[in-house]
Amino acid sequence: MTAVSDDLIRDIEAVVGEAGIVRDTERMPRYLSDWRNAYRGVAALVVRPASTEQVAQVVRLCHLAGVALVPQGGNTGLCGGSIPDMSGEQVVLSLTRMTRIRDVDTANETITAEAGVILQTLQDAAAKVERLFPLSLGAQGSCTLGGNLATNAGGTAVLRYGNMRDLALGLEVVLPDGRIWNGLRGLRKDNTGYDLKHLFIGSEGTLGIITAAVLKLYPAVRSTTTAWVALPSAQAAVQLIGIIRGLCGDRLTGFELMSRQSVEFVLSHIPGCNDRFAEPHPWYVLIELSDTQPDAPLNELLEGAIGEALERALVIDAVLATSEAQVAALWALREGISEAQNHEGPSLKHDISVPVSSIPAFIEATDRRLLERFPGVRIVAYGHLGDGNLHYNISKPVGADDAWFKAQQDAITQVIYDAAVGLQGSISAEHGIGQAKRTAAARYKDPLELELMRAIKATLDPHGLMNPGKVI
Ligand code: FAD
Ligand code: MLT
Ligand code: ZN
Repeated sequence: MTAVSDDLIRDIEAVVGEAGIVRDTERMPRYLSDWRNAYRGVAALVVRPASTEQVAQVVRLCHLAGVALVPQGGNTGLCGGSIPDMSGEQVVLSLTRMTRIRDVDTANETITAEAGVILQTLQDAAAKVERLFPLSLGAQGSCTLGGNLATNAGGTAVLRYGNMRDLALGLEVVLPDGRIWNGLRGLRKDNTGYDLKHLFIGSEGTLGIITAAVLKLYPAVRSTTTAWVALPSAQAAVQLIGIIRGLCGDRLTGFELMSRQSVEFVLSHIPGCNDRFAEPHPWYVLIELSDTQPDAPLNELLEGAIGEALERALVIDAVLATSEAQVAALWALREGISEAQNHEGPSLKHDISVPVSSIPAFIEATDRRLLERFPGVRIVAYGHLGDGNLHYNISKPVGADDAWFKAQQDAITQVIYDAAVGLQGSISAEHGIGQAKRTAAARYKDPLELELMRAIKATLDPHGLMNPGKVI
């Protein structure tokens, strides 16, 4: 890696213009730390190209100069993947000026959009033509399509529609040497060799810069029902999802599990959130059914399923939302957890996955081991139960000092990862590796898989200039 010279800056500015460069101390900080302020870096400059051609030229200039690039979208990632290192020699390449929706093809059920389009804008564009773009997550007002693809984002509707990998049909990518790969094909069938888009999806900016994508659209949802359910245990939640799947099939579009601790944090810190029941309960699930028919009998279906679960003592109490405002209030209890936990001081984020059937065993064993070794730590367990994906986040004990907690962090995380991997699970279900889990990935991933990953990286980015220090 080489330091950025004045000549390089001048050449880059000639490509992107003054509006495409950020170097001043007032505007730079927002590109140099993440949403939680958990990662900070220093950059020689931030470049904001406005077209694929400009991205390609900037990448080519950096490639020739031996300067490292850090691709960045909305900067909402949770593993430090979009943050430069502390050397001050890296260039942040922000895609946030590439915001064009290039094409909507309702006959092919596809939308083609640039990497800097905000997820919510993409959802709105689909809604305008009475279609659904189903990726849905708490950061959707700020995260970008490029970041969603680069992290293979998941969220709350994966159990019905899949994650970004399942939603993408084609990509346009600027390779580390500045060449443009035009793989913007809107095909559902294309067996002409290796499916290269899957190399870039989930690669967290280490193999190239995604500049645009062709994505699948689905029929618009015209009826929805949402319920908030209290349960005695995580085991009951696993049984409940089985009952609902059996009775409601594909209409199940959300099944989010939350521990009492998670909900308590939201009640304490997010204004306007209220408890739905008079008594606290150990676990909750937020259930959403949806249908493309305007008057689908979803309330009746869900009431039937919950009624069956009540008879089997799997459910303690349940309420169905009866207005849009109530639906929003229930989702606020779920979506507020990340922000609420930030108010409780330093925390450790984990996004493990195990087979759905192993979620109760994971929680039981990991709670016990952690509380034995680190008494008082607050376990904030919640997540996308239908995908076997648990956010098993840890806040420091009340009154413990930050330095003590920081010193325990690797040991705490190891207990959690050992448990997940011991149950044939993964150390990252949806947030990725970034800089946060790089050491852990080297420890827990199969050595042969790591060797193949390194070989792919060396082929596409032989000089290691594309987001160095991330993933591998
Ligand atoms: P960034 O944070 O900017 O970047 C993320 C990674 O992608 C970095 O490695 C970066 O280098 C790379 N990158 C960005 N753009 C490009 C590009 N165009 N080409 C190549 N590489 C690129 N994630 C989930 O999966 N499910 C959730 O439910 C979920 N909930 C969240 C809730 C909250 C409140 C927050 C703050 C985050 C949540 N996330 C969730 C994290 C999630 O990964 C991001 O929100 C999103 O996918 C990242 O998009 P971004 O544009 O912010 O990317
Ligand atoms: C979520 O599902 O809310 C996020 O992915 C989890 C997090 O912020 O830890
Ligand atoms: Zn999540």
